[in-house]
Amino acid sequence: MFPMGSSSWVGIALFFLAFTASCFATEVTYDARSLIINGERRVIFSGAVHYPRSTVQMWPDIIQKAKDGGLDAIESYVFWDRHEPVRREYDFSGNLDFIKFFQIIQEAGLYAILRIGPYVCAEWNFGGFPLWLHNMPGIELRTDNPIYKNEMQIFTTKIVNMAKEAKLFASQGGPIILAQIENEYGNIMTDYGEAGKTYIKWCAQMALAQNIGVPWIMCQQHDAPQPMINTCNGHYCDSFQPNNPKSPKMFTENWIGWFQKWGERVPHRSAEDSAFSVARFFQNGGILNNYYMYHGGTNFGRTAGGPYMTTSYEYDAPLDEYGNLNQPKWGHLKQLHAAIKLGEKIITNGTRTDKDFGNEVTLTTYTHTNGERFCFLSNTNDSKDANVDLQQDGNYFLPAWSVTILDGCNKEVFNTAKVNSQTSIMVKKSDDASNKLTWAWIPEKKKDTMHGKGNFKVNQLLEQKELTFDVSDYLWYMTSVDINDTSIWSNATLRVNTRGHTLRAYVNGRHVGYKFSQWGGNFTYEKYVSLKKGLNVITLLSATVGLPNYGAKFDKIKTGIAGGPVQLIGNNNETIDLSTNLWSYKIGLNGEKKRLYDPQPRIGVSWRTNSPYPIGRSLTWYKADFVAPSGNDPVVVDLLGLGKGEAWVNGQSIGRYWTSWITATNGCSDTCDYRGKYVPAQKCNTNCGNPSQRWYHVPRSFLKNDKNTLVLFEEIGGNPQNVSFQTVITGTICAQVQEGALLELSCQGGKTISQIQFSSFGNPTGNCGSFKKGTWEATDGQSVVEAACVGRNSCGFMVTKEAFGVAIGPMNVDERVARLAVQATC
Ligand code: GAL
Repeated sequence: MFPMGSSSWVGIALFFLAFTASCFATEVTYDARSLIINGERRVIFSGAVHYPRSTVQMWPDIIQKAKDGGLDAIESYVFWDRHEPVRREYDFSGNLDFIKFFQIIQEAGLYAILRIGPYVCAEWNFGGFPLWLHNMPGIELRTDNPIYKNEMQIFTTKIVNMAKEAKLFASQGGPIILAQIENEYGNIMTDYGEAGKTYIKWCAQMALAQNIGVPWIMCQQHDAPQPMINTCNGHYCDSFQPNNPKSPKMFTENWIGWFQKWGERVPHRSAEDSAFSVARFFQNGGILNNYYMYHGGTNFGRTAGGPYMTTSYEYDAPLDEYGNLNQPKWGHLKQLHAAIKLGEKIITNGTRTDKDFGNEVTLTTYTHTNGERFCFLSNTNDSKDANVDLQQDGNYFLPAWSVTILDGCNKEVFNTAKVNSQTSIMVKKSDDASNKLTWAWIPEKKKDTMHGKGNFKVNQLLEQKELTFDVSDYLWYMTSVDINDTSIWSNATLRVNTRGHTLRAYVNGRHVGYKFSQWGGNFTYEKYVSLKKGLNVITLLSATVGLPNYGAKFDKIKTGIAGGPVQLIGNNNETIDLSTNLWSYKIGLNGEKKRLYDPQPRIGVSWRTNSPYPIGRSLTWYKADFVAPSGNDPVVVDLLGLGKGEAWVNGQSIGRYWTSWITATNGCSDTCDYRGKYVPAQKCNTNCGNPSQRWYHVPRSFLKNDKNTLVLFEEIGGNPQNVSFQTVITGTICAQVQEGALLELSCQGGKTISQIQFSSFGNPTGNCGSFKKGTWEATDGQSVVEAACVGRNSCGFMVTKEAFGVAIGPMNVDERVARLAVQATC
């Protein structure tokens, strides 16, 4: 026997570890027909949930609800700017702990998709690029540039190594089955010329060298270098084909709704059209569908992209901003997932044939080698319903713009346009206890900037983010001009050409005016100013509202007064160009530097409490203590009355607000015709004539039981009098269920169904909130539902004539197809 040295023990331990890991390793391979996970062909439903857009406390619930909604996987980008805010100084704390996020996904028994990017777009500030990266000398982002590639590789490797250390890749027994490099580069590649082609090849090689043991994907990359799998993003991807016939067809971003910008209406995509897009994709050979977003969440702090992305990133996703079920979308898609899963084996193993029935009606049949069949019957006509005779397989009514899923090709298990899931109308409930707000206030100190005093001077109008590194939205530009002849200059025009986004001007300490760019681009600011003899100080405050995140070379889009020109125009059009004057600069606000948003008392800061707070005053800080609404329902703060600024609760930023920006009064509709291609902004919008965003999410974990503090920085002037805290609860729930389908009703947040306000089984009319009895109904229509549901958190039963007991009035009634309409309160 030989004594073993310590290195042998380490060797044995490593072997054992490797052995255990490989025992539990999940093998992910693929071919044209599907992903193959541990030898099994799979159809995958996945949903995007971006970890920094919620809180650690919210993650388990969101992930569980995704699982309950029939998802197999959760997908997230990685957010470089948040993880490496300063070069080589990393942050993975709190809701940036992506390892923990993926571990929770694994604990829930789900797979994961890791989209590293590290350019992410995502309506995220600067597409996820840290500002130090942009400001590195000689760098060119997203192209064949050695400085950029080096930084991208270092960050990608860091993320991969962290994931490897936590054994997160499927090859190590973890949940990650796919990883993505870059993001939609193919959309803008031509603008980068040959260097773009070289770059994307390098991306592929760099990613492959990471050796993660699971396939890599590239979305919207029509020429993806092999073995990168190219995938599709859009509202519809049924006609997409990967560039390699051996790659499976995957829909990495099924845009389930759309994002919103300040001043825009709230976009919605119907449950019917969402389901239609998914079903069409699987009908045409798709095998993985990832919803973008499944939970959109909140752009906390200054993470919103730009220009002008709102703080809410709700996206009309199946889970709303607060994590509640967005019904009927969540439920309808859940049923769709279950229906498609019935055909999983046949879709991924079988052969596909299409039969054209004319008038845009197509029957797709998947046939397994064992003879089993699974069918999709689609009607892509956007206005004409169809009746399709499949002979021995039955007769089907097929609404316009819908897909019917036929199990065994002869049993309708789902139609994308027939929504049986409940509708939930969420309402905001005022919380009296938390709403007696007493305001303290303090003006933003401007003594220095009104006198032209900054931190540094240069004879040039500088680009904003290159100077600020985006540590603040605000940059002061100051200069002075010596005036001799007041007959020319006492009534002059100040003209400022800025690249955006907002501008405020002062002359000799007096406010001149304010303007913002309507679309977030260049604009010219012109105001009459009165100049005095001698030195005049011109002070300009420029603010950005989210840095661009999309488009070729978006990183080069200038912000601030970059280059100007800034001019004074006097009598007889005499002009002084101030662009090359000596400009003094100051980054950020004094209040930001003093951390006025922090509830801890600050030396030298005295909030005013004994004078009435000002209304409509620009550059003003407001502060109020409040008691958190009791219970567990999500909390929002209603900022109606405020202008534009940022809000903090207990020192944590809940995001920018811009309550005073009212959306157009036209272009909204109470009803939404799901038929025809969904184009955001063109249909299904709501919220016309209201603030584009009025309520702001205050996550429960930001709140304390006793005293909480809300701080507002008001940039343009507002009135905090009506600011109040509210909770988001389910108001009314409704369901319309066809005979033969399942009624399912449930309340959220542990509440129970208290009352059935309306219930009729027959031919009721109207919609949720306006149901009416039809010409006939079952006499037990109300009592059956009451008995099954009242007092319960959720209830459900098959809607059949038997369930409602008696025959219904006139003769032959059993041949009529009945429908149940229910309206209840939680
Ligand atoms: C895609 C992009 C996503 C997101 C989406 C729109 O182009 O990959 O990150 O920005 O558009 O919501």
